[in-house]
Amino acid sequence: MKVLFATSEATPLVKTGGLADVAGALRAALVESGVDVRLLLPGYGPVLESIAGRSAIAADLALPPFPAARLVEASMPSGVPLLVVDCPALFVRPGGPYQQPGGLDWPDNDIRFGLLSRVAALLAHESTPLPWRPDVLHCNDWQTGLAPAYLAFELGSRARTVMTIHNLAYQGIFLPGTLARVGLTPAAFQPEGVEYYGNVSYLKAGLHYADRLTTVSPTYAREIQTETLGFGMQGLLTRRADELTGIVNGIDVDVWNPATDPLIPRRYQPDTLIRKNDDKRALQQKLGLEADIFTPLAGIVSRFTDQKGLDLVLEAADRLLALPLQLAALGSGDPALQDGFRALAARHPGQVGVQIGFDEALSHLVEAGADMFLMPSRFEPSGLNQMYSQRYGTPVVAHATGGLVDTITDHTPATAKAGTASGFLFREPTADALFDAVERAVTCFHVRRSWRRIQRAGMGRDFSWASSAGQYVALYEALAG
Ligand code: ADP
Ligand code: GLC
Repeated sequence: MKVLFATSEATPLVKTGGLADVAGALRAALVESGVDVRLLLPGYGPVLESIAGRSAIAADLALPPFPAARLVEASMPSGVPLLVVDCPALFVRPGGPYQQPGGLDWPDNDIRFGLLSRVAALLAHESTPLPWRPDVLHCNDWQTGLAPAYLAFELGSRARTVMTIHNLAYQGIFLPGTLARVGLTPAAFQPEGVEYYGNVSYLKAGLHYADRLTTVSPTYAREIQTETLGFGMQGLLTRRADELTGIVNGIDVDVWNPATDPLIPRRYQPDTLIRKNDDKRALQQKLGLEADIFTPLAGIVSRFTDQKGLDLVLEAADRLLALPLQLAALGSGDPALQDGFRALAARHPGQVGVQIGFDEALSHLVEAGADMFLMPSRFEPSGLNQMYSQRYGTPVVAHATGGLVDTITDHTPATAKAGTASGFLFREPTADALFDAVERAVTCFHVRRSWRRIQRAGMGRDFSWASSAGQYVALYEALAG
């Protein structure tokens, strides 16, 4: 089985969120299952730098109206093979993969990710310049959504296609003029195609033209067929429900392992949880919090966007801090949320520590050093941090949505008795409900024996990719026949 995995980010080369970790770790798990999988990535500056010396030009790509580009075959420092779309005019820039340094989207994102999709389609078609031809093209999110649309209008044999939704809130919507800018036939511009309320939607293109659809948890697969969380795609998704599967993400259990993590000062296991206190002290020191082992410390690591419900934390903050509770938050994004957290820290020096920015090492320290972890997400397709947290013995307080439902066992009298409780879920995304759940967690925290059971229940869960990778393999096999 040969699979081309087209993605706009992949750990450790380029990461803004969970998609990167999934691309990195799922790839590894698929290889273990015997799948020959190649990642296709844009040649952003940092990607070109990290493959320097381990790359060779596989083909010159003339794909008008796109600028000239090259396909580079390379390998990561770890030896993982990669295919890179080398087009410096589009991909080598300051700023992030999707945004300019000031935070605005790149105005030519339609062309940038149109090219990524176009190359994915080429490699999945009999006219590919490579001797290696995939049986399945696996696309991820809107950035690769146009690939199945290109293929739908090609004659000749082609790979079967899978479109995975990591987040339905990002749809890649552009003006109709985009079609000409990316060389997609006007025939695709119809409701049964890429047209979405008068514009072009790259995500819809993928959802309409791909042979099979998946999303990153079973609960989210159901939720996106409703008006509340369907972001306008619920009709299409409901029609294609038989071809839509929810496969929950796994995590890289080697990178996220408190027994071996080189990024935390003190390593620990289920039977040495007392050592976690040293990580708590280190986190308190790092973020300017009072050195205090007895007050519970709640951690946050997140993109600051409306999705993540962090405004609820700000709204409930005064009551939360009076429990009492310390707060350690790492994140960046929405300026209003950044300001809100900074202001909270300024009002409560020693009790609230905030770092704005992206910091991989600190994210590990928060997982290890916090006593509990907050994820009040309004919606959460899968979520990874709740799995990292459970593995680090850091029970999660989360809104009962999407993948959070599928990966956290709420603490109730029954699950507490059974020893399966691994976190605290709340039903409504409100500040009151969040507060009540944190209060429940804090009450448990102070009963040492019951807290340890919750910690160990989370640490004992299997979040490895093995089972989910198996589900992807089964899907590929069913598709490729
Ligand atoms: P999403 O993809 O919606 O952002 P996930 O929970 O799937 O949510 O994945 C987020 C990933 O990004 C996690 O690995 C998390 O640790 C990481 N992350 C988010 N913000 C930061 C940050 N400011 N610094 C370091 N890592 C971060
Ligand atoms: C998205 C979702 C997140 C998911 C990640 C990887 O960014 O917001 O819930 O874990 O993709 O699938």
